[in-house]
Amino acid sequence: MNIDILSVFPEMFVGPFDHSIVRRAQENDLANVSVHNLRTFSHCRRGIVDDYQFGGGPGMVMKPDPIFEGVETILMDLSQIEMAKTRVILTSPQGNMLTQELVAEFAQQLHLIIICGHYEGVDERVRENLITDDISIGDYVLTGGEIAAMVITDSVVRLLPGAIGSQENLLGDSISSGLLQHPIYTRPAQFRDMKVPSVLASGHHENIKVWRRRKALERTLERRRDLLDIQNLSSEDKDYLESLGYNLSR
Ligand code: ADE
Repeated sequence: MNIDILSVFPEMFVGPFDHSIVRRAQENDLANVSVHNLRTFSHCRRGIVDDYQFGGGPGMVMKPDPIFEGVETILMDLSQIEMAKTRVILTSPQGNMLTQELVAEFAQQLHLIIICGHYEGVDERVRENLITDDISIGDYVLTGGEIAAMVITDSVVRLLPGAIGSQENLLGDSISSGLLQHPIYTRPAQFRDMKVPSVLASGHHENIKVWRRRKALERTLERRRDLLDIQNLSSEDKDYLESLGYNLSR
């Protein structure tokens, strides 16, 4: 997969992609991440990429022309096949919320182009005529879209086949399974006065499986009730949730 990122602060990307899984994915040619300075697509003096808002209002707006030119320059080199599997993503607090489902959809593409939003926002013509996806990473406002672009890149790259050692790890992922992850522990079995739950050291695989499933259900119920999809739960899951006082008919 090719990922092109358009940013007014390309230097922010030095570091985050040079470690761990994303670095290995690049070394193994699973992902090729390129960061472009948006200012190089500006024909204004000193590479200006923002301007005042029509109609008045606070803050500066990202101009459409450098963004269109940047994206079109990248698209120009793509084959028809690659073009059909390309998403052009804008990062903004007004976007659709990034979910694991959306991340998995992005991971199916051949090419992602990510435009890092800034200032008061971008000229609406970019939204209307250039992008395929307007993405927010949460209900809070960042100083710019660079960190959001890093989040998208990181979450997508780890899903590329071969990026993570074992596909098992992906299957057991928190969220991918529809539930939050159960608690996990490592050695020592006792740290200060804190002990690992005895079932985990029992060697009884069936009991461990049941314990983990129940803990995942409990945690999801407590923290992210919105994730609970009753259709996908077994009758044992439902019985357990009911024993915790959860009303399944709600
Ligand atoms: N830019 C500023 N805030 C953002 C957010 N929450 N998600 C994506 N891009 C942003």
